[in-house]
Amino acid sequence: MKIVVTGGAGFIGSSIVDRLILNGEEVLVLDNLSTGRIEYLNQYAEFENVDIDSSNLKNIFLKFQPEAIIHCAAQISVKDSESDPIFDAKNNIISGLNLLKIAIDSNVRQILYLGTGGALYGEPKYLPCDEIHPINPISPYGLSKWTLERYMDLILPEPILKKVLRLGNVYGPRQDHTGASGVVAIFLSKMFLNNVVEIYGDGEQVRDFIFISDVVDAVEIALKSTSSFTVNISSGVGASVNEIFKILCTQTLYKDSPQFKSKISGDINRIILSNDKAKSYLDWAPKISLEEGLNKTSEWFKNNFSK
Ligand SMILES: NC(=O)c1ccc[n+]([C@@H]2O[C@H](COP(=O)([O-])OP(=O)(O)OC[C@H]3O[C@@H](n4cnc5c(N)ncnc54)[C@H](O)[C@@H]3O)[C@@H](O)[C@H]2O)c1
Repeated sequence: MKIVVTGGAGFIGSSIVDRLILNGEEVLVLDNLSTGRIEYLNQYAEFENVDIDSSNLKNIFLKFQPEAIIHCAAQISVKDSESDPIFDAKNNIISGLNLLKIAIDSNVRQILYLGTGGALYGEPKYLPCDEIHPINPISPYGLSKWTLERYMDLILPEPILKKVLRLGNVYGPRQDHTGASGVVAIFLSKMFLNNVVEIYGDGEQVRDFIFISDVVDAVEIALKSTSSFTVNISSGVGASVNEIFKILCTQTLYKDSPQFKSKISGDINRIILSNDKAKSYLDWAPKISLEEGLNKTSEWFKNNFSK
């Protein structure tokens, strides 16, 4: 299959591209390298260094003739979306709309969108949140990611399949440690450089952590489906930031105490996402336990960040 992967030089996108290439797919990566890294680009994928907002996108699509789009490109930081909601909205909504419009004008058969599960439902009314839980994003990031998801429903014509994976907190090798999100990557980079680890809030906030290879499995399965759907992709269990810190301390032999800072506005207290629908509808289930995933991630950071 000919597949365009937007954000294919980023953490999740590049891991997806690696799997697609392994499976013999023909892949074109569109990435402006704002947070993506050229060294994560698979050498067998075609690459255009382009913003998805570009007017040149149409020509690129005409030339490549993709059958599917996997849309990973986005501004991903809740904190940055609070300080610059206009940039967040331009990137996640307006640029995304440009992509949808070009998909409509071309022969694309399906669009697979990496939505957010963690920032979509707001402070939950019940746990775990399933896909019919009321939607109430409390950050500009959650709102912009949801808005494009909604636009997909509203403007994509019927023949184009709409596949939405609402992801939990994804972690694993290649996650950016320099941004304001990605707690595992940020902790590990500090731990291996022997720097102080900062925790925003009291650390008791609960997240649904899902390892990267489980997300890539879900994308691979979802691509093959012949219908439209929306599913959470999650572990189905929660872990607090303090628990993550503790496990990583053991794995990295880090001995210092964390420094607690004030809570980030727009950050929810507790989220766990039900993965029942993904299990029954896609026949997907997470395979990697939290300890195992953190261990694999620690190993990768050890090789990349040790002094
Ligand atoms: N990491 C998570 O825990 C998580 C959770 C839920 C959803 N998601 C979604 O998954 C997707 C990928 O996230 P990630 O963690 O890999 O982030 P990332 O920052 O590593 O990847 C995003 C990629 O998109 C590129 N990009 C950003 N804006 C672009 C634009 N306008 N045009 C072209 N390229 C652009 C960046 O250079 C980068 O390579 C995002 O859509 C994000 O909202 C991530």
